[in-house]
Amino acid sequence: MGSQSIRIRSLYKIFGPRGRDFVEPVMKGMTKTELNREHGHVLGLKDINITIPGGGITVIMGLSGSGKSTLIRHINRLIDPTSGEVLYGDADVCRMDQEQLRQFRQKKTAMVFQKFGLLPHRNVLQNAVYGLEIQGVAKGEREERAQHWIKRVGLDGFAAHYPNQLSGGMQQRVGLARALTNDAEILLMDEAYSALDPLIRVDMQTVLLDLQQELKKTVVFITHDLDEALRLGDRIAILRDGEVIQQGTPADIVLRPADDYITAFVKEVNRARVIQVEAIMSPPAATSARQAVRIPAGTTVEAALREMSVANAATAVVVSGEGHEVGSVSMDGLIRCLVGEDQHIPGEISPAVVAEALSAID
Ligand SMILES: Nc1ncnc2c1ncn2[C@@H]1O[C@H](COP(=O)(O)OP(=O)(O)O)[C@@H](O)[C@H]1O
Ligand SMILES: [Mg+2]
Repeated sequence: MGSQSIRIRSLYKIFGPRGRDFVEPVMKGMTKTELNREHGHVLGLKDINITIPGGGITVIMGLSGSGKSTLIRHINRLIDPTSGEVLYGDADVCRMDQEQLRQFRQKKTAMVFQKFGLLPHRNVLQNAVYGLEIQGVAKGEREERAQHWIKRVGLDGFAAHYPNQLSGGMQQRVGLARALTNDAEILLMDEAYSALDPLIRVDMQTVLLDLQQELKKTVVFITHDLDEALRLGDRIAILRDGEVIQQGTPADIVLRPADDYITAFVKEVNRARVIQVEAIMSPPAATSARQAVRIPAGTTVEAALREMSVANAATAVVVSGEGHEVGSVSMDGLIRCLVGEDQHIPGEISPAVVAEALSAID
């Protein structure tokens, strides 16, 4: 099932009775504050252009009030845009009639909410089958499909439990099972994990990543947490005051933050866990030793550092999946990446510096 990308083009959302009248002034530079103070309208989104590739996880990140929920709700048109398009394949979601929209929402999209959105008087199984029930899928089939996903999210044995008998993390698993039972191509997750305790949250991230390996859904995941964004996102778009201020891969964001705002965000990040060796490697060395340490492309700087330090190697060869040499990395380069270019490191990197760097990434 080759999933299609979602392309958001020149999307504006201005809340208020005369939103349309203010698109042009906003295009010409009227700020969110001016619009609000002088005209009583709220700038929700300004000129959003994002391509959300089919089959990948795209994270929308930003502080509270930056427009994340407004944006994700345009994808299944819970909110109508003031102007712009939301394309799914060739279809413009904003131009669908009621029936097309109903079909699109039921068949193509599933939402997972922060507050779980479970029906309290229904047990886990009954919650999971809900979407299929609405679609008129026969009882036997919908329950079989639901049971499969209940197991896959780690809730085997809990089908007959009611939401209030489950912990927050388990309730969120039910939310996920329900979304997956619908078998929609697009999974919309608005701060789905934000209310969970940190450890449970990381567990749930792992559940999503594991499932995604196999499912290849088109996931739009909203968070205000950078670590979560970097861990989950194949691509990340950062919003501020309704505008996209940077989009790219996690490494793009960490290595080349677009402005001071994002720099402040990424400052505390564990770079070594995000950046992969390809991002910092040099061309293959001309005379690479046959016995050189070989590191597969896709290895994080952190993992490469560990391997090279165990092997006591100053350099390593980066190899592609097919085993071709695609570049080389040095211990020195890895450590410079780890601590950030802005910090000066003396020419020679001693074992003590390596040891300290390695201890810092734990
Ligand atoms: N229905 C609405 N009417 C007026 N303003 C709104 C409405 N919904 C959202 N907003 C405003 O739009 C901006 C973005 O909100 P939202 O998308 O909820 O942000 P986030 O999800 O990033 O916290 C905020 O300034 C918010 O107050
Ligand atoms: Mg929100």
